[in-house]
Amino acid sequence: MSKLVKILAFNGSLRADSWNYKLVRIAGQGAEQAGAEVSYLHLNELPMPLFSEELEAEQGMPPNAKKFKELLKAHDGFLIASPEYNSSITAALKNAIDWASRAEPGDAMLAAFKGKTALIMSASPGALGGLRGLVHLRAILGNISVMVLPEQHALIQAHKQFDSDGKLVDEEIQEKILGLGRRLTEVCAKLIRE
Ligand code: FNR
Repeated sequence: MSKLVKILAFNGSLRADSWNYKLVRIAGQGAEQAGAEVSYLHLNELPMPLFSEELEAEQGMPPNAKKFKELLKAHDGFLIASPEYNSSITAALKNAIDWASRAEPGDAMLAAFKGKTALIMSASPGALGGLRGLVHLRAILGNISVMVLPEQHALIQAHKQFDSDGKLVDEEIQEKILGLGRRLTEVCAKLIRE
């Protein structure tokens, strides 16, 4: 019997009504359609202090940073939707990644990231849909040993795109985002079989 693919779907901002969280939930449904077990995380569920080496030395990893790191470790693939802030990734997402990149006793190097596969997307009310931030997110994840799939989507005019049930009004885009979740699941399924 093949192993169940586990996907963590999360957003990159702390805004309660995040467009990116809505978007990543759709991709997560696509992953579920393809047979994955999907966990959903709104980044504001795990508030963390700003990373500082002194804080880390004095208090160790803060509980929510640890929870985030453990969640990453427990999943094979990541669906991430993040807005861009001033053309790059949000401070909240970078901060969470920085905390999770830190080794703790008994950890392999980059234990939360090495061997994981990600599919990234963005949403913004603007005309570029957060596309410029995806370039940076792709580079950051690649540099910490995450394989980032080439497929992605930047959702423009996000404030006009969702219906009251959280579905995308444009059926083609809805299908594309579901397809991104399915794609990540299919790739993870092949990788974890090896
Ligand atoms: C933004 N926003 C924004 N949008 C964009 O398309 N390009 C950008 O460079 C920026 N820069 C930016 C900076 C800061 C500090 C804020 C607070 C916002 C707008 C942003 O896309 C918008 O707030 C989205 O709604 C954020 O995504 P969530 O939180 O809805 O997922």
